[in-house]
Amino acid sequence: MSLIDQIDKNKLPNHVAIIMDGNGRWAKQNGKERTFGHKNALKAVRASIETCRDLGIKYLTLYAFSTENWNRPKLEVSFLMTLLSSTIKAEIKELHEGNVRFNIIGDLSRLPSSARKDLEKALDLTKNNTGSVLTLALNYGAKEELLVAIKNIANQFKNGSITDQDLTEELVEKNLYTHDMPMVDLMIRTSGETRISNFLLWQIAYAELYFTPVLWPDFTHEHFYEAILNYQGRERRFGKTSEQLTN
Ligand code: IPE
Ligand code: IPE
Ligand code: MG
Repeated sequence: MSLIDQIDKNKLPNHVAIIMDGNGRWAKQNGKERTFGHKNALKAVRASIETCRDLGIKYLTLYAFSTENWNRPKLEVSFLMTLLSSTIKAEIKELHEGNVRFNIIGDLSRLPSSARKDLEKALDLTKNNTGSVLTLALNYGAKEELLVAIKNIANQFKNGSITDQDLTEELVEKNLYTHDMPMVDLMIRTSGETRISNFLLWQIAYAELYFTPVLWPDFTHEHFYEAILNYQGRERRFGKTSEQLTN
């Protein structure tokens, strides 16, 4: 039986987040510059979007550029920014036709204005779509996201629009970039690294983590199916005992 046929359609994750890692090492293995790896990452992005579409996974969140990635060589950063704009421009029509809502988390203000314009156009074009939600994490850092939320809440407190009764988990969630998204069910990281690298800290509180040695440009539909099958083999107990769940 093929992998996709083994997937239980009633036990799918609702929100999958992916740390797309290993482009540089993939390029090196192929005797090329790091940028060659970034260019060749697009196929894996497409495969992930298609997998979510075909299976009916509603939320897919892709880590594309972290707040720490500004520390990379200038040329690599500008290459990534240009690639980002051109990719969005090339792909957005098809996403829109597929009723996908394009979404971004992160601080766009630091992005080059041309990239920002392309991204804002894409956001606007798809804003009323009701199908799946594709989120790119761009200039995203979870610590920064939490800090922004804390500052917002402190301001609301100061101006009297909330009282200490209002300080709940829901209020924190309302102030995150992900305010209109559910918690992450499955987080995948490629390239063999087993760390979170400042991605979605609050939102992965109870996510299942899946690490694969596959480098991102090599990540295919089949690899994604394997991750989902692995996820489906786990028991999500949320603090309860196994017996409580089976009874
Ligand atoms: C992930 O691949 C892409 C980004 C972080 C933008 P890397 O560029 O981190 O590749 P490695 O980890 O150096 O192999
Ligand atoms: C995390 O990958 C960021 C993205 C995938 C966009 P990195 O390759 O930047 O992470 P570290 O630096 O190895 O932790
Ligand atoms: Mg990396």
